[in-house]
Amino acid sequence: MLIAHLSDLHLFTERAETGETRADIARVIAALVADINALDPRPDIVVISGDLADGGTPEDYRCLAALLAPLAMPVMAVPGNHDRRCAMREGLAHRLSGLAEGAFLNARVDMAEVTLLGLDTVIPASPVGALCSERLDWLAQELRSAAASTVIVMHHPPVITGNPHWDTYSLIEGRERLGQLLGKTPRRILCGHIHQPFHTQWGAHYVSVAGSPAFEYHLSPGSHATAQPAPVPFSYPLHHIRPTGDVLVYRRHVRF
Ligand SMILES: [Fe+2]
Repeated sequence: MLIAHLSDLHLFTERAETGETRADIARVIAALVADINALDPRPDIVVISGDLADGGTPEDYRCLAALLAPLAMPVMAVPGNHDRRCAMREGLAHRLSGLAEGAFLNARVDMAEVTLLGLDTVIPASPVGALCSERLDWLAQELRSAAASTVIVMHHPPVITGNPHWDTYSLIEGRERLGQLLGKTPRRILCGHIHQPFHTQWGAHYVSVAGSPAFEYHLSPGSHATAQPAPVPFSYPLHHIRPTGDVLVYRRHVRF
């Protein structure tokens, strides 16, 4: 099974909420869609780990739905801190697979031997994230019937990175119980939010953070500087989950 992982698209139609977001992000998303469709083999699914929009107006999500429409495979997404739940559900739900009913935009997709579980970590109007008891109860319920190979998708990474800039805006609630629920069975956790790709081990779990096509940082460990976007080459990860359960992660470089 092949997963194309995108994150932090920050699409806007009228006005960007984030000053750093590139003005031609709609064109960039269209280029990414074309690139994914041209892959051989094609990914089985595209996962987007939050900040789909940059401001989250209904028109943003309608525009994004149109941009994602040519994708030849299902799309699963969770919201990020720049998204707005109601507008996202209204404008994009028809293009997303496995979106759960209820107050939160959790999601579940079962494909072959793999279950993908998406967790909504949003606190409205806040850059930090949280997993309250309701969302973690949902996860506990879904894990009971999930495949042995389970992929968790969430915007805010569960790890403390040690980088002061990133940790200021991290997951502030639910980290400990999330770790307890996931237990010692190794899972893949796909995240965003950081705007700089990195990979790490969190307990038994492999955490992969995708970068952003809208803008990226280039911070070194322990950097105390105020983060500024950097003109770094963009790539997105392709997670190949093999029948053995082993995972190979490829990086697909794209020039815009
Ligand atoms: Fe973002």
